[in-house]
Amino acid sequence: MIDRPTIERILDAAQIVDVVQEFVPLKKRGVNYLGLCPFHNEKTPSFTVSPAKEIFKCFGCGKVGNSVNFVMEHEHLTYPEALKYLARKYHIEIIEKELSLEEIEKQNERESLLVVTAYASRQFSENLFQTDEGISVGLTYFKERGFRQDTLKKFEVGYSFEKRDAFSRKALDDGFKQDFLVKTGLTIQHEERIFDRFSSRVMFPIHSLSGQVLGFGGRILKSDPKSAKYLNSPESEIYHKSRILYGIYQARKSITQEDRCYLVEGYTDVLSLHEAGIENVVASSGTSLTQEQVRLIKRFTQNITILYDGDAAGIKASIRGIDLVLEEGMNVKIVLLPDKEDPDSYSKKLSNEDFLKFLKENETDFIRFKTQLLLSEANNDPVKKADLIRDVVKSIAVIPEAITRTVYIKECSNVLEVTEPILYHEVNKLRQQKNFQDRNKYPGPEDLPVRPPVIIKPVQNETVTYYSEKEIIRLLLKFGSLIFDRTLNQEDGKEEVLTVSDYIVKEITSDDLHFDDRICAKIFSDFRFHAEQGLITGEKQFVKHEDPEISSLSADLLSDSHELSRIWKDKETYVETEEMKMKDIVGDVVLKFKSDKIMIKRKEIMALLIEAVKENDNEKVLLLQKRYSNLSTVLGLISKKLGNRILL
Ligand code: CTP
Ligand code: MN
Repeated sequence: MIDRPTIERILDAAQIVDVVQEFVPLKKRGVNYLGLCPFHNEKTPSFTVSPAKEIFKCFGCGKVGNSVNFVMEHEHLTYPEALKYLARKYHIEIIEKELSLEEIEKQNERESLLVVTAYASRQFSENLFQTDEGISVGLTYFKERGFRQDTLKKFEVGYSFEKRDAFSRKALDDGFKQDFLVKTGLTIQHEERIFDRFSSRVMFPIHSLSGQVLGFGGRILKSDPKSAKYLNSPESEIYHKSRILYGIYQARKSITQEDRCYLVEGYTDVLSLHEAGIENVVASSGTSLTQEQVRLIKRFTQNITILYDGDAAGIKASIRGIDLVLEEGMNVKIVLLPDKEDPDSYSKKLSNEDFLKFLKENETDFIRFKTQLLLSEANNDPVKKADLIRDVVKSIAVIPEAITRTVYIKECSNVLEVTEPILYHEVNKLRQQKNFQDRNKYPGPEDLPVRPPVIIKPVQNETVTYYSEKEIIRLLLKFGSLIFDRTLNQEDGKEEVLTVSDYIVKEITSDDLHFDDRICAKIFSDFRFHAEQGLITGEKQFVKHEDPEISSLSADLLSDSHELSRIWKDKETYVETEEMKMKDIVGDVVLKFKSDKIMIKRKEIMALLIEAVKENDNEKVLLLQKRYSNLSTVLGLISKKLGNRILL
């Protein structure tokens, strides 16, 4: 853990222009700097860096933040990782919480293992391209399968000699400790003898996100029923197969650019798709897909297309994959390949153009995918059809976002000809049974600020405005950057855009109202500051806020599980359509907050009035009566406006 003073030194040192310039060429424009936004495609620069404010902002896509945010976003790093990156850049020594002896040993061992795998990868690659055996056996194999040399280089594939201990002997000669060779799984020790795990195989190094070699997959060259087609590195301190995806290092940039990730089964599928011009592809390589792998993809995109073999095993794996992706709140498409084909073989059969066209034309959402699969069996059998509906409903039920569920329920209702209320009922039943926590998935614990989040205890003496304050903050977080209203400027005829955040801030500050809840007040003042600077504030800034009280309240408010506003509790359907009714809701909540405030004020005035009557101060009585009645009038107007839309 990085300690606080170090974090502060890093933040002080990291000059925004300097940090950004490493990735984006900038030109000086007045007091600011201008460049092409790295977060979306643009031809004219709208990406601005302000050295004075220490922030960047893109007027095209709305991304905004400080230097740490920039590094996190651009390099897809977590908060601590971004801090470490900046510390390296500015030669700041990271002072971490003291590690125990055991932890230090573990860290050293990890590093030693990584040195071994990097060495092995270089050896295998040299074998393939620079030795007679490698060229005649390994390279010939790849050529026969139709792989290009540049692809082989890009993935750093290699070859492990036929001789049973060639690699291990060479490594020992080069001074590597046998212990580490064994721990990476490259060497197998059997009593006094050692030999190579991967002899006589072509080698696929498996890279981490940042390109370190963690492990290997090795493919046999001739088909031999006695040995496994692929051998993989065993689990080790550095290689955890359930946490890594083959190809992620080579794909990460393209996944961001395309905002989509193709998921295939095998090493060769990844290579072939690259050759077909599709670089946003990763493979789960010999394990069934895990939640950790899905989350790894989620760091780069919300959209996954599953592209598994068209055989029964492939279909089964796809179905498992679908729910995993949906559970993460991500979008999933499925492309089923013709029977007996895998992405490698099929992409080689078609031209690049036709293959891409095939993918585009054959991708289906999960409802249609499941329906197509099962409906043919179900036919007119009502029992089977009911099973199918339950099956689809089960997938819908795992989706964390209420709005997304609504959309799929509509789709399901159309495709399967069942009415929506029945589907809602079924989905809700399942969700209750399974006790799903409604949540928008926010950064996992590993992504959160270095300080552990503080669990906010329920407030003991809730203020009158406690619920409306929280509701306002929730709406700011959730919808703050959406457009609330557009108006035409009378003078220059230009369209002016008012965001939800602009609107709320304006309404509240113009009446000089304040938040009583300390944390709500903190968050609001950030929104206010940003609104006044014309900046857009994103929910992420708060969820990742370094003040743990702010980050945990934000995460809490953004999760559906947050007591969906006592204010709306009688309106369950409200939840499903909140975004659509966003404008009404925002207006109502602001009014509700105002009316709460007025009621408090009126109570205060009443107390003063009683005092004044007691003191026989007629002048004061009159004045206070007038104020009281004015407030009552306003309250009446508000109630009327709210009608019975809101439950006071
Ligand atoms: N796999 C494995 N062990 C095996 C078989 C397969 O680990 N004995 C993993 C590999 O990662 C492989 C993936 O499962 O890439 C998909 O298996 P398969 O479709 O059989 O292999 P392909 O990728 O098609 O391999 P190739 O094209 O080389 O035949
Ligand atoms: Mn295959």
